[in-house]
Amino acid sequence: LHVDASNATGRPIPETLFGIFFEEINHAGAGGLWAELVSNRGFEAGGQNIPSNIWPWSVIGDESSIYVVTDRSSCFERNKISLRMEVLCHSNACPSQGVGVYNPGYWGMVAFISHILSNANYAFSSINGEMRFQNIESGKKYKVALYMRSTGDIDVSVSFTSSDGLLTLASEKIIALASDVSNWTKKELLLEANGTDHGARLQLTTTKKGSVWFDQVSAMPVDTYKGHGFRNDLLKMMVDLKPRFIRFPGGCFVEGVWLRNAFRWKETVGAWEERPGHFGDVWDYWTDDGLGHFEFFQLAEDIGAAPIWVVNNGISHNEQVETASVMPFVQEALEGIEFARGDSNSTWGSVRAAMGHPEPFELKYVAVGNEDCNFKNYRGNYLKFYNAIKNAYPDIKIISNCDGSSQPLDHPADYYDYHIYTLAMDLFSMSHKFDNASRNGPKAFVSEYAVNKTDANSGSLLAALGEAGFLLGLEKNSDIVRMASYAPLFVNTNNRRWIPDAIVFNASHLYGTPSYWVQHFFTESSGATLLNSTLNGITSHLEASAISFQTNGSDYIQIKAVNFGNKSVSLKVSVTGLDTKLSGSKKTVLTSASVMDENSFSNPDMIVPQESWLEKPEELDLTVVLPPYSFSSFDLS
Ligand code: AHR
Repeated sequence: LHVDASNATGRPIPETLFGIFFEEINHAGAGGLWAELVSNRGFEAGGQNIPSNIWPWSVIGDESSIYVVTDRSSCFERNKISLRMEVLCHSNACPSQGVGVYNPGYWGMVAFISHILSNANYAFSSINGEMRFQNIESGKKYKVALYMRSTGDIDVSVSFTSSDGLLTLASEKIIALASDVSNWTKKELLLEANGTDHGARLQLTTTKKGSVWFDQVSAMPVDTYKGHGFRNDLLKMMVDLKPRFIRFPGGCFVEGVWLRNAFRWKETVGAWEERPGHFGDVWDYWTDDGLGHFEFFQLAEDIGAAPIWVVNNGISHNEQVETASVMPFVQEALEGIEFARGDSNSTWGSVRAAMGHPEPFELKYVAVGNEDCNFKNYRGNYLKFYNAIKNAYPDIKIISNCDGSSQPLDHPADYYDYHIYTLAMDLFSMSHKFDNASRNGPKAFVSEYAVNKTDANSGSLLAALGEAGFLLGLEKNSDIVRMASYAPLFVNTNNRRWIPDAIVFNASHLYGTPSYWVQHFFTESSGATLLNSTLNGITSHLEASAISFQTNGSDYIQIKAVNFGNKSVSLKVSVTGLDTKLSGSKKTVLTSASVMDENSFSNPDMIVPQESWLEKPEELDLTVVLPPYSFSSFDLS
């Protein structure tokens, strides 16, 4: 590998090159990054048709002591359903632990209705006996908020218990006179756990006869990232990637199988209690929408990533609104942009300000639709969005769903979206995909890439190496490819909707797949300088790139190389164009005994980057060994 390190031939890599794509899939948000512990907190998940379905809440007590129904008496206009608990027993006649209801968090239920999708990579619910969800830890504090009313005096215990309810981890009582709770009343409690249980549940119990109504029951750990409601451990995994942008909230989640189930931002803002929640029909699960439009922007700000909002353009998997009728969708998008960017006197900016963020969010990218280019109405709809957004916000960059890599787009755009899911060998060889793409016109945004066929399993080293080769190609083509993100980012193993993924978790544990760790090799790339490099010799299973960057006031050259073959390779690296000799250097290698190896909860660090010091090169040349099936980087300073 010959590297020309002179600045004269280097080219700046965009500041935005590597980022993340966050989709509400696999319970990435609800039951994942969003730290809310109660699922179906407003009892709305049954929807209009089956409001009596309070899943996953369950009743504590038998028919002789309690019955539970729902009615439409909530004080919240947009989510009318509340739970009525009719307690039939009293005092010592009740079971000793009382009667009531409990919420197991996001798990514990097996009755999952999945519609069968043809794509083999849509994986179905694997309820693998891990009936755990609420991760309650000793010494930690939890905020519980709920709404209640009653016709009589009340005495309700709010408790975290073990999954069988037998062991109490934390408990507080709500005692009130009938006169104080005859109307809907908000109660807030701070529970401190005196025990740890990864499978805990939240109980509301009583031994007092009478009628009690509950609505909007929430339990959140006090300790969340920046106090903004994000689960710390998952968020750290994201931040460690140093993402320069975050694309959200989907994916197919934006489209819906049907438009009525698509993500509608207005339904997800304002007080959490007032959000109706919705059933995401593509990935088949209910979200209470605690992680809503505001929280996505807050997340972007908290992790220092540019927000990229994907809007629905009137197209779902099964429907397309005629272009002549699409203006309400355009208006909704404009208002969503105003929510993010408008000052606090604007109609929607004032809603954001009331939520605690008077300063606008820095929204500069909007993607019109997701994978919708082949729909007949896409171009017409897209143009309505493009013109309206550019007219109101000329600086916003618009991303089209149509692929401009092999032929010019027939419509104006700042970026075109490119998605690729394929075999490892295919993706590896696609490192040259953008070599001949037009340098005129819109730039490329590779917003979803992954190896996801049979050779990926649940996240093999092989898959990651295919991706590494592809990413080296993107880095080298970053004059035209300006942004790239892996998909999907997260999976909760209790409900996998897509395999493989970058970060795997349950209530209490998490690990990165090799695909996650490959992305770590690119954390210095955004904003660095791409150096001219040439690979000579037998290179069919090799890809390499070279960059220079500064960190903590020191200059570095970084060489990255993938060996996609089954033999080790001795790579001679010669660096020209430097004034000084190279000194200390660090080597980082990602590999494993077998190319189909994967990380797991029991062996989370089987395939993680291994760092070591590299001998100080005597000259400006060095020879390095690339193990079979490996990805290596060499930082030279
Ligand atoms: O990343 C998973 C899905 O793949 C996304 O929702 C969609 O855009 C693509 O088909």
